[in-house]
Amino acid sequence: MFSLLSLGFAASVAVATPLLVQRDAVTSVVDLSNNTGTPAHLASGFIYGIPDTPNQIPDHFYTDIGFNYARAGGAQVPSPGLGWIWGLSEYKVRFASALSNYKTARKYDANFIFLIHDLWGADGTQNSSAPYPGDNGDWTFWDEYLTQFISDMNANGATAGLSIDIWNEPDLTAFWNAPQAQYIQMWGRTYHRLRSEWPDVLLIGPAFAGEPDASNIWWTNYLSFVKSNASVPDQYVWHMEGGGGDMQSAYGALYNMLKTYSLPLKPLNIDEYATYTEECPAGSAWWISQLERVDAHGLRGNWLSGWELHDLMGSLVSKTNAATDYTELGSGYYPNGDYQVYKYYYQNMTGHRVGSQPSTDLLIDTYATVGTDKVRVLTGVRPSTTGTWAITIENISAVGLATSGTLDIHTWGFPGAGGHFGEVDAPTDLGWYSHTFSGNSVTFPIYQTDTVTAYAFEFYVG
Ligand SMILES: *[C@@H]1O[C@H](CO)[C@@H](O)[C@H](O)[C@H]1NC(C)=O
Ligand SMILES: *[C@@H]1O[C@H](CO)[C@@H](O)[C@H](O)[C@H]1NC(C)=O
Ligand SMILES: *[C@@H]1O[C@H](CO)[C@@H](O)[C@H](O)[C@H]1NC(C)=O
Ligand SMILES: *[C@@H]1O[C@H](CO)[C@@H](O)[C@H](O)[C@H]1NC(C)=O
Ligand SMILES: *[C@@H]1O[C@H](CO)[C@@H](O)[C@H](O)[C@H]1NC(C)=O
Repeated sequence: MFSLLSLGFAASVAVATPLLVQRDAVTSVVDLSNNTGTPAHLASGFIYGIPDTPNQIPDHFYTDIGFNYARAGGAQVPSPGLGWIWGLSEYKVRFASALSNYKTARKYDANFIFLIHDLWGADGTQNSSAPYPGDNGDWTFWDEYLTQFISDMNANGATAGLSIDIWNEPDLTAFWNAPQAQYIQMWGRTYHRLRSEWPDVLLIGPAFAGEPDASNIWWTNYLSFVKSNASVPDQYVWHMEGGGGDMQSAYGALYNMLKTYSLPLKPLNIDEYATYTEECPAGSAWWISQLERVDAHGLRGNWLSGWELHDLMGSLVSKTNAATDYTELGSGYYPNGDYQVYKYYYQNMTGHRVGSQPSTDLLIDTYATVGTDKVRVLTGVRPSTTGTWAITIENISAVGLATSGTLDIHTWGFPGAGGHFGEVDAPTDLGWYSHTFSGNSVTFPIYQTDTVTAYAFEFYVG
């Protein structure tokens, strides 16, 4: 069904080029001597994607990928579920949606990030006269809202494994159509109120749509304020959904700003990553590589709407008729191509991680592990891109092999057949190839003639 030619895959003819060990424009480099710790499949989360009806998606779809991070707050639930700004009864329906998603996440021991802007009603569908916390200097409505929310969470015993994203993407008017200074006051008030209520719940942010940048006044004003206000988030959060950017640059910019404002390092959480186009096997592998390198938790973005937003696991699964005639309560779930990447990442990439670098054009990246049996290298090219790239694996002797000879590499293809709604039940076995190598490293090309296929390469350790 998937011939090597139709995939454009030709690693079989790769000839090792021992001199090419430096990272360059088209080569991603894996260093087998650089142990970067135990894998925790940091990218295995997604936002929304959980049906509000418990157990609708069978357990194994969550457990087979080691699902570990959820994020929801009742967004886009239709009337009578529009949220607090429409009245208590509309709030209650939205709260029930979020609580159900929380319980599903906890069933799999996943962390849950509560989106209180969605429960409030600012999910992007609110009208132009919708209120925001602190309008006209009056915080009463927001304080009452937090009182209700805190009481309902306590009554349901829903604080284990909980994080609160204090506001989502306030740097976009779709979510915060009020002054920036008002957002910053809201952050300070809300942080201290929730911290005194729940010392152990993680308070995270700022969840800006824009990545860290010393010339972005949302970032600079926020970081300067949280320092003076003693309201430093427990995780630094932002989103990577613009179709550009990369994690080393974004984290580098944050790192420098933290120095500027004398702020501590904290864990990173990219709680929305990847564009809809990037949600394909190649894009998933690229993002996994990017997030793992800087030890950032990651949750896949969700580009679906309405009840589909509350289903389909952030475009990792689909179900009967979903693409043509979607129904909220429909069943017949099946995995897509991306799902197989996350399954391999969780189930097969065990042992310890090793460091890697993307190509300098930032278009191909690798994530690699060394297990007791095999080295496994997952790779993806940033989508919408075809061409020829390469992978160099250096310091081969670090896994007990000779510094030259032949290396038998087993290749798996992860096709994206059918796109977001297509069914892919397993990766494709592309066979074993022998590569001659010397100088303690091996280099082989990746001929990417479609924009979506990811690959994994495996060889036995010595
Ligand atoms: C706009 O939304 C608010 C709730 O946020 C509601 O009270 C108001 O009636 C809505 N206005 C219109 C014109 O729909
Ligand atoms: C933090 O900022 C909020 C909003 O201005 C304020 O109410 C609170 O008192 C400040 N807390 C500290 C410790 O500065
Ligand atoms: C991944 O690991 C599972 C569980 O051990 C195994 O059944 C499966 O064959 C492995 N997949 C690949 C592609 O090696
Ligand atoms: C090991 O890999 C990590 C992650 O890519 C990188 O930050 C670090 O600089 C590498 N260390 C060495 C010694 O190359
Ligand atoms: C790993 O390989 C690189 C490139 O050949 C080399 O510079 C580096 O010293 C090696 N690291 C170790 C620990 O051998």
